[in-house]
Amino acid sequence: MKTLVIVTHPDLLSSRINKAWINELRKHDNITIHSLYEEYPAEEIDTAREQSLLKAHDRIIFQYPLYWYSSPPLLKKWFDAVLQHGWAYGEGGDNMQGKEIGVAISTGGSLQSYEPEGANRFTIRELMRPVEALAHFIGASYLPPFTLGDIFHVTEEQLEQSKMAYVNHITTVAAVAK
Ligand SMILES: Cc1cc2nc3c(=O)[nH]c(=O)nc-3n(C[C@H](O)[C@H](O)[C@H](O)COP(=O)(O)O)c2cc1C
Repeated sequence: MKTLVIVTHPDLLSSRINKAWINELRKHDNITIHSLYEEYPAEEIDTAREQSLLKAHDRIIFQYPLYWYSSPPLLKKWFDAVLQHGWAYGEGGDNMQGKEIGVAISTGGSLQSYEPEGANRFTIRELMRPVEALAHFIGASYLPPFTLGDIFHVTEEQLEQSKMAYVNHITTVAAVAK
């Protein structure tokens, strides 16, 4: 299985978590890293190029730091530019059918804060509903999210563990039941 990890981080040079994850993933042959802010510094998405990358992979992971309960803005632009009618959905739009889609996110808030009684009130699974919904809409299956929380207090050892857990997740996770 070939996995495409679409990274959306506006400042990878200053990143600790997402950069560490990427560096670990790069050691694996069947994983392609595609960093949107690096590929498109002018933020103009090449739709045809993105569509052919999607076609060449089976599992698509959107990796990003959580920004205001959502992604950095270039990923929204990417969704709008790439998942076109007649390509991803609608008549003739069957290119994403049968693929698998998931998210991997880092959060400043602890995972306990992403609970109904916590400071962030909603779970990560709930907050990721737009991605789950789009996966469903375009005929892809949805993978459970991979998350690292409380990132301002993550030790080097915890970061190491998370890198290994991330690779394991990407290579072994099964889609959630419909
Ligand atoms: C503009 C902005 C918005 C953010 N919004 C959230 C948020 O809604 N929830 C949260 O837990 N953390 C939030 N954070 C913290 C980031 O998720 C955190 O800095 C990031 O995951 C760190 O990853 P990195 O080391 O790869 O940069 C925000 C950070 C920024 C800069």
